Amino acid sequence: MGAYHDDNGKPVVLECVREAERRIAGSSFISCEERIILLLSSFLLLGIKEYLPMGGSVKMVEETLKLAYGDDSEFIKDKRIAAVQALSGTGACRMFADFQKRFCPGSQIYIPVPTWSNHHNIWRDADVPQKTYHYYHPESKGLNFSGLMDDVKNAPEGSFFLLHACAHNPTGVDPTDEQWREISQLFKAKKHFAFFDMAYHGFASGDPARDAKSIRIFLEDGHHIGISQSYAKNMGLYGQRVGCLSVLCADEKQAVTVKSQLQQLARPMYSNQPLHGAQIVSTILGDPELKSLWLKEVKIMADRIIGMRTTLRESLEKLGSPLSWEHVTKQIGMFCYSGLTPEQVDRLTSEYHIYMTRNGRISMAGVTTENVGYLANAIHEVTKSS
Ligand SMILES: Cc1ncc(COP(=O)(O)O)c(C=O)c1O
Ligand SMILES: *[C@@H]1O[C@H](CO)[C@@H](O)[C@H](O)[C@H]1NC(C)=O
Repeated sequence: MGAYHDDNGKPVVLECVREAERRIAGSSFISCEERIILLLSSFLLLGIKEYLPMGGSVKMVEETLKLAYGDDSEFIKDKRIAAVQALSGTGACRMFADFQKRFCPGSQIYIPVPTWSNHHNIWRDADVPQKTYHYYHPESKGLNFSGLMDDVKNAPEGSFFLLHACAHNPTGVDPTDEQWREISQLFKAKKHFAFFDMAYHGFASGDPARDAKSIRIFLEDGHHIGISQSYAKNMGLYGQRVGCLSVLCADEKQAVTVKSQLQQLARPMYSNQPLHGAQIVSTILGDPELKSLWLKEVKIMADRIIGMRTTLRESLEKLGSPLSWEHVTKQIGMFCYSGLTPEQVDRLTSEYHIYMTRNGRISMAGVTTENVGYLANAIHEVTKSS
């Protein structure tokens, strides 16, 4: 499952989230002056539970855009981005798919092989035909870059492509910056539209600015893009369903129109976005101290996973495994696409009570200092004879 657990195998509520909740409830131990400043800066602290405006929390959306487009993004300044709060990453993807269906009828979406399985369901239920593009290279357990580029080249001009902005799920394989530049150039030549799903922002490198590199490269090249952002993983707000859908438009006028249409898609479905998660996010990102605490905590989560990758690989090598486990440390994000076969996964389950999806995807968040040795040994046992 794609949820972060700590080194004791326990789910985590981030300290920045706990503090934000204290402030929202109005019970934090802060001075009178601070309380007044906070009250003036935001109505959130009054604990109001009324509807958010259409489009969701303005403050949350504003802070969320900065994370993807950059703090001093000219596109934010020029009001060229149509953005609405969404029901986490899934809701943002679905809203984009519905938008695509309504305003580009007959268009298709190109989806990588493999991808998060729900992508297929989302565009299917939005009634948008799907095509696939090459992505994973099983032999190298890396990227089939030439296959990807061929598919981008051969797609009809002006096609829609779903790209994972970072920490590709399920493979953990991301293009390098140089490869992103080439992809972006080819998209430009082919007038394709890139829709970035960014569900693991911060989880790849531990630094959200670094993880936004793919998007920044496309922005530099002058694309119009769409982005789905989610706080499920990087703030641990899974069940709060807080995220953002944004579309970079040609100008402010177009952005106003697109935003209005996005709101009209939401209105008959759920009318308004949920409030509490958005309050948490805007409280954290709107306060420099809480924001830097969040950045620290994201890095701790990412670093723990990176550390477990190293330990898992080293343990397998120490056991004398004849296979290469380099991909364990080369891949990034929450998952490791181990290359284990469905039969080997079944043996891990029945003989060792180790559970992963049958495509061999290990959730690295479930690996801890205590169980990594047991895991390595079991993997070694089931892969020995192959
Ligand atoms: C690639 C990808 N996109 C989107 C999501 C959506 O997550 P959520 O709707 O919880 O934000 C996930 C969650 O697993 C994911 O892996
Ligand atoms: C890489 O993509 C190409 C398509 O251009 C395909 O022919 C080839 O089989 C792919 N390689 C792997 C290992 O998937």
